[in-house]
Amino acid sequence: MSGDASGFVRVAAVGDVPDPGRTLVEVDGDVVALFHVDGRFYAIDDVCTHDGGPLVDGELTDFKIACPRHGAKFDIRTGAALTMPAVRATRSHEVKLDAGGVWVRLRRSAGSDGPSAHATGPVAGPGESAAPAPAATAAGATDRPSFPASAAPTGAASAATSGALSEDAVREMLKGVVDPELFVNVVDLGLIYGVTLSPSADAAGKQHVAVDMTMTSPACPAGPQLIADAKRTVGTHPEVAAVEVRIVMDPPWTPDRMTDAARDQLGIF
Ligand code: FES
Repeated sequence: MSGDASGFVRVAAVGDVPDPGRTLVEVDGDVVALFHVDGRFYAIDDVCTHDGGPLVDGELTDFKIACPRHGAKFDIRTGAALTMPAVRATRSHEVKLDAGGVWVRLRRSAGSDGPSAHATGPVAGPGESAAPAPAATAAGATDRPSFPASAAPTGAASAATSGALSEDAVREMLKGVVDPELFVNVVDLGLIYGVTLSPSADAAGKQHVAVDMTMTSPACPAGPQLIADAKRTVGTHPEVAAVEVRIVMDPPWTPDRMTDAARDQLGIF
């Protein structure tokens, strides 16, 4: 692929990519997903910020591409992460049309400069400048911050361990279980659908605790760890005989289940 003096690299002919459609291109050694939707071209890194999965073969709906691995969605116009489990934007790049070709210039930071898109109308001559970029979406227009586990709201988990066992006490304890990727506890993420206590058949005076928990996506890579942490945490209470964690995917988790504390922590407003 050839580049011009302004740093744009010709990656395809305008007619190479159907509308809607997508293809992988290489720009200065980086692999970039090029999209053609509604007469415009968009370019983002072919990298999901959740766990590095490739994006280009995901389901494309309007201006959203879904990561094939765990389902996070990104706005192809801005690179913004729209749904869990991704919380950071992937890089979007500048695009222009010139002399029948599609040209891409790499940006060095993710989603910080807003989107770049060019109509695929009549192809202009050399030197065509970029069209005004549409406004970035509110969610994920910029990188969202990550927080160390110690910053997660942990509530009164340890205090609950020594108090009387109740559903509320179990929820407080579960605030000590933190998603290792989002650094937010499972209660504030809205992952706990229910807590049920019942007398243990095996240990007199103790309780069997059943926790109905969901995941942010069906194949959440943190799932096994969250289940183990929940069992271990709740199991420390002296009145608990056994802990059962039941994974519930219906209804599916949605971001609106998060508490305001979790939204603040993830930079979602
Ligand atoms: S790697 Fe993309 S959602 Fe997990």
